[in-house]
Amino acid sequence: MRVAIVNGPNLGQLGCREPSLYGTETLSGILARVRAYAAERDVEVEDFQSNHEGALIDFLEERGPLLDGVVLNAGALTHYGLSLRDAVAALRCPVVEVHLTNVHRREPFRRRSVLSAVSAGQIVGFGAPGYLLAIDGLLALHARGVDAATSNKGGEAP
Ligand code: DQA
Repeated sequence: MRVAIVNGPNLGQLGCREPSLYGTETLSGILARVRAYAAERDVEVEDFQSNHEGALIDFLEERGPLLDGVVLNAGALTHYGLSLRDAVAALRCPVVEVHLTNVHRREPFRRRSVLSAVSAGQIVGFGAPGYLLAIDGLLALHARGVDAATSNKGGEAP
């Protein structure tokens, strides 16, 4: 299995960004943990982070066809990034949406995700281990032969 861990705006600042909310671990530290966890399960990992919606879309367009799954923390684009949402909808592999924080317990604007309806599932509120849980989720889907078409990518309006 080949999986991409994709992080959106401001997530490159993990470690120093609002540590009381997002913790003190850097994104590269988290990715090292994800790689080790994935390797034990025969999952190859690539990663991408950008502060720009278009760059995230370019990555998904280019790499998506080669992937068996995507773990996506889109940061604030989660709440309004309709171009990213359409790129996720077009992917042929399942996507697991991850948020470090429990977005449902924060400001009201964070409760809305334009990505959830085109994702296989959502993991929120567990901090960095959420990325590991997402790998487990993709493995479970893969074992059941679930692809994008059957993992909640029916094209519903957000
Ligand atoms: C986040 C939650 C978003 O609302 C926020 O804009 C982020 C991080 C999270 O991981 O908890 O950048 O996606």
